[in-house]
Amino acid sequence: MASISYLLRSFVLVAVLMLFSANGAKGDTREYQFDVQMANVTRLCSSKKIVTVNGQFPGPTVFAREGDLVVVRVVNHAPYNMSIHWHGIRQLRSGWADGPAYITQCPIQAGGSYAYKFTITGQRGTLWWHAHISWLRATVYGAIVILPKVGVPYPFPAPHKEVPVIFGEWWTADTEAVISQAMQTGAGPNVSDAFTINGLPGPLYNCSAKDTFKLKVEPGKTYMLRLINAALNDELFFSIAGHKLTVVDVDAVYIKPFTVDTLIITPGQTTNVLLTTKPSYPGATFYMLAAPYSTAASGTFDNTTVAGILEYEDPSSHSAAAFNKNLPVLKPTLPQINDTSFVSNFTAKLRSLATAEYPANVQQQVDKRFFFTVGLGTHPCAVNGTCQGPNGSRFAASVNNVSFVLPTTALLQSHFTGKSNGVYSSNFPAMPLTPFNYTGAPPNNTNVSNGTRLVVLPYGASVELVMQGTSILGAESHPFHLHGFNFFVVGQGFGNFDPINDPAKYNLVDPIERNTVGVPAAGWVAIRFLADNPGVWFMHCHLEAHVSWGLKMAWVVQDGRLPNQKILPPPSDLPKC
Ligand code: C2O
Repeated sequence: MASISYLLRSFVLVAVLMLFSANGAKGDTREYQFDVQMANVTRLCSSKKIVTVNGQFPGPTVFAREGDLVVVRVVNHAPYNMSIHWHGIRQLRSGWADGPAYITQCPIQAGGSYAYKFTITGQRGTLWWHAHISWLRATVYGAIVILPKVGVPYPFPAPHKEVPVIFGEWWTADTEAVISQAMQTGAGPNVSDAFTINGLPGPLYNCSAKDTFKLKVEPGKTYMLRLINAALNDELFFSIAGHKLTVVDVDAVYIKPFTVDTLIITPGQTTNVLLTTKPSYPGATFYMLAAPYSTAASGTFDNTTVAGILEYEDPSSHSAAAFNKNLPVLKPTLPQINDTSFVSNFTAKLRSLATAEYPANVQQQVDKRFFFTVGLGTHPCAVNGTCQGPNGSRFAASVNNVSFVLPTTALLQSHFTGKSNGVYSSNFPAMPLTPFNYTGAPPNNTNVSNGTRLVVLPYGASVELVMQGTSILGAESHPFHLHGFNFFVVGQGFGNFDPINDPAKYNLVDPIERNTVGVPAAGWVAIRFLADNPGVWFMHCHLEAHVSWGLKMAWVVQDGRLPNQKILPPPSDLPKC
């Protein structure tokens, strides 16, 4: 009798488990505790205190499946007010959990806490999290691994192992001091001392050979590297000697796979690549290198190279010494530092998968069109001031000549409570007020205006935005990130955007869908997105120096009419300013 009731109970339990996981109707809840705390870390033979999560650098990986509810309780033990952004997570109706300080929330005060709660909907691949205030993201970052729902395979052969590979940027000095000094003098911030892979600078830097990321592999297997560019100010080339990389997913969207020797990844972007190892033990080790792509004047960026090592397990040895130390090291060749044509050839290869299962729902019609110039500029030096920016001015940056000023309260709260007066205005220019030859000889007056100006979009609007790079103070590529949405990159080109002829060349069939796109140096990019997520959404260049100078703005998406088209009310523990 007992055994029958036991069997029955087990059967019910199994049935319930199947309901909750196998059919994927309802995801699991993934809970994490993030204790933000100081830790002493030594790199390049020099120690400093850095802000970390749980004392780890890089911070812990968040694992979830598509459809899961993620709850991260952040407790701030550090002496800085801070917030954390879940970069690339759509945050459908949950904008309060997005994280950019003074945009969707007031920072978590030193000693305070806040539980970020969000459901992952329609995304699978790699995203990442990082601090979103001042320059704290220099050390406060980690990976978000999003697996498909239970029982749903990848649209490519399942890899033997998956490894996050996070590129970072390291300063020997305190990074908060670096940016505050730059903001005082008006000069560009001091460049970093090293790049890192998973927090490690590697053998090409002073006294760092012991701090080297090593990827240990077996022959004849496929590995998936989850690449994340968490560097502050540098787009990076990446290559592994003697091995090809097949790109299968960017920004947590599957793509049509393509194979390369070298790829480019901008700050904010993620790229999943498959790496197939040699069929038999090669008797060599292989450098994996990352170094910057930049068209800026040399001296304004860190032009060093980070190396990690791909090491094969020696099949003839099964001891701990299986990784032989005295093998030849092969090095890949990276493109020239300013190889813009490599970058545009690479980005042209990116196409959405666009299958019935993973469609590319590109907006075919447009309700609202915007044309934004993005680039550098100046602020005049204060009377009697001494400024070290261009020609005695201060560096600035702007979108449509507006250098964005963060408010002292959170924009989302002002919008939600209907109290925007004195916090922001809704008159962000839809196009430049004074058109000029954007990529030609720069105008004499490079000064920009300040403002906290937003664009207001009705719920459900189909939006096209052309971002046009300028040549003011040098043409540079700007990796633009939009919070709260993925967008389709329908077109890009060099020179000035031509509104008559360029739209005819748009790809409206299988354009890449992502959350961060490089606006080409001296060129333009056109994106489309559906404003189906009510809230306030930050958009900015992901080069942190440029963010500090004001290369950012925000969109308000109004609530729709239906109940499920409205932003949810704020959580009760939302931090106060
Ligand atoms: Cu990863 Cu607002 O940024």
